[in-house]
Amino acid sequence: MKKFYITTPLYYVNDKPHIGHAYTTILADVIARYKKMFNEKVFFLTGTDEHGQKVQEAADKLNTNAKQHVDKFHKNYIELWNKLNIDYDKFIRTTDQSHQSKVKIMLQNFWDKGEIYLSEYEGLYSVSEERFITEKEYSEGNFRQVTKIKEKNYFFRMSKYQSRLIEYIKQNPNFIMPDTRKNEILGFLRKPLADLCISRPKSRLKWGIEIPFDENYVTYVWFDALLNYITAIDWNQKEKNFNYWWPADYHLIGKDIITTHAVYWITMLMAAKLPLPKHILAHGWWLMENEKISKSVGNVVNPIDLIDYFGEDALRYFLMREMTLGQDSSFSFELFKKRFNDDLANDLGNVLNRVTILIRKFCKNKVPSITNTDDTDKDMIDKIKSLHKVATRHIEKLNISQLIDDVMSVVRDVNKYLEIKQPWKTLKVDQSNYDGLNTLSISAEAIAQATKILYPVIPGKSTSILSILGLNSKDFNNFEFGFLVNNNISKHGPLFPRIEND
Ligand code: MSP
Repeated sequence: MKKFYITTPLYYVNDKPHIGHAYTTILADVIARYKKMFNEKVFFLTGTDEHGQKVQEAADKLNTNAKQHVDKFHKNYIELWNKLNIDYDKFIRTTDQSHQSKVKIMLQNFWDKGEIYLSEYEGLYSVSEERFITEKEYSEGNFRQVTKIKEKNYFFRMSKYQSRLIEYIKQNPNFIMPDTRKNEILGFLRKPLADLCISRPKSRLKWGIEIPFDENYVTYVWFDALLNYITAIDWNQKEKNFNYWWPADYHLIGKDIITTHAVYWITMLMAAKLPLPKHILAHGWWLMENEKISKSVGNVVNPIDLIDYFGEDALRYFLMREMTLGQDSSFSFELFKKRFNDDLANDLGNVLNRVTILIRKFCKNKVPSITNTDDTDKDMIDKIKSLHKVATRHIEKLNISQLIDDVMSVVRDVNKYLEIKQPWKTLKVDQSNYDGLNTLSISAEAIAQATKILYPVIPGKSTSILSILGLNSKDFNNFEFGFLVNNNISKHGPLFPRIEND
């Protein structure tokens, strides 16, 4: 069995999650579910980033201490993942004892091997980014809360790995995806790479993992958080488990954290002499009226509200269908409503209703058998049979949006097929008319197979549709054609009631 290890970023617990955060985790969940569908053994990791200045400031604002703050706020993510039907294997918190102790082990190893040194540094520090920035970066104006700081700190010899990193990226064209991000990193690496400051003096920040060889410092939050990808799978604890899962197949991230992953993390792994992840995939941003959705802009869309009104599958469907990997996408309630009504209510919901009503009316509730098919039937059958291959091809490239589009086009074809065949007319005259019976059976089969392929995207609604068609979960992975014949169809209400204008 092939193994597949996929990760999301660890979310800062400085506020409530918004749909940008929900997107990455849904994407990871959808990919993980497809991989399981293809019989791969999957480990899906997500969690929360609980140290550092941002979290400390959020706690200060709420007049609470950092520990109490993270113990309370990380639950927002767990609650959201439950509501979104996210089937993760592990939720790591960077305040977990086992994570903290392994970060200390890594720091000690680096110190012992001379990968870390102490040095005085004077420079510009961006509080919002939690890192030292160059004069040039400052002049470009992308950083907030910049102050001048002079202090002694510990540095990781990141510069040592610059040429190896460039070489690796060039030799492995799919390592950083998409190409725009790869080129951005190669551009960044054209300038000399500085060493990375990996400590913060306790006089400035107490909320972090103490540096094991100097009690006056805590660890820089990114050095701590990035290590989660290996601490979560038992690095330095259960080597068998670690060696089985590592390296990760995909680190899914947003484009704003590509440098920390493609440069900091990869050079850390090089220094630790560990294998490198197979792919780092950076997606675009969710925008609202052309601005990134974010807490600081103040335009957040709360996913819980959308789930409470429209259900988790409506949100999963929208986010997966609407974003082309690598590009930015816009969110608006109008778009959300349109996508739901057009695709789920009008196409999928409508065709399901038509077919189940006709099977109830003309076939005593049973899916009829298929005999003497004509060319139109055969065309439809070919489309149904191609669905699994289409899914496999798109998943290889993680092209979820295109996959959904192709499946929905088959669903729309069923509506057209019904219009051509008009089984309600032939069966009204003769209930044993094989052409009418074939049409209903093949249409039901098309809906079932399309729904099975959509299962990773809309698991809840897919389960309902497949159970209406007389299938239970052990059949969801069976793509044999004609599997539905003789199944009893259950009565059901509308699965995707249209969202009306209010
Ligand atoms: N804690 C770090 C990641 C550490 S990973 C070891 C962090 N956290 S974050 O909460 O600020 O962001 C988490 C993820 O959410 C990032 O991948 C970021 O790109 C993503 N998004 C935040 N706002 C977003 C949008 N508006 N749209 C899409 N994703 C965005 O960075």
